[in-house]
Amino acid sequence: MSDLWLVLRKFVTNAKTVATVAPSSQALSRAILRWIDWANTKAIVELGAGTGPITAELAQVVPPHVRVVVNEYLPDFCQALRQKFPTMDVAEGDAKRLTEMLAERGITQVDYVLSGLPLTHFAEADRDVVIDQCGRLLGPTGEFRQLTTAPWLYRGLYRRYFREVSFRLVVWNLPPGGVYYCRGWIPPDERARAAEPLAG
Ligand SMILES: C[S@@+](CC[C@H](N)C(=O)[O-])C[C@H]1O[C@@H](n2cnc3c(N)ncnc32)[C@H](O)[C@@H]1O
Repeated sequence: MSDLWLVLRKFVTNAKTVATVAPSSQALSRAILRWIDWANTKAIVELGAGTGPITAELAQVVPPHVRVVVNEYLPDFCQALRQKFPTMDVAEGDAKRLTEMLAERGITQVDYVLSGLPLTHFAEADRDVVIDQCGRLLGPTGEFRQLTTAPWLYRGLYRRYFREVSFRLVVWNLPPGGVYYCRGWIPPDERARAAEPLAG
């Protein structure tokens, strides 16, 4: 079965989870991998891998010293990923359990998170759980990268979680999309203080 057909079928039964009718294009998949500092990277996580368009690009460029974990929630997509990428470590489950899934693999720190998750469709509390786990795993130097098919619209949202957010447009995708590159995670207590009205 083609990836497009599998995504379409899953979209019909799990629209909110899949949140797209087609896999990301090669251009968008390459954009999320751009400028990765491979020499200083030990571990990288992909979230919401779907049928694996980003995984395919990652498999081509990842150096042997880098540990890669590919996460996906839907079992049919996980099966497709395992068939296509037999040497990749596919972590099946909810990204809300990321810390646990990585701990099971002896990983407590990562350098990059590449997210294809439909985070803007998540309830706010669930989005906090996922992004805050990523922030803790990334530490002060790691980078969170998020795919979007709504260019620029959610920059404000990611700025609530990260001090530095830049965006790169990718027109060669259906629909056109892009990538948010986010650094400097802001912990929840600091976010709450920033949201408090000034006294006096
Ligand atoms: C917009 S699709 C992106 C798929 C693929 N990365 C791409 O670029 O074509 C979102 C993916 O996130 C997965 N997903 C949604 N919620 C998830 C969750 N809580 N944990 C892990 N994966 C999830 C969906 O099953 C789907 O494969």
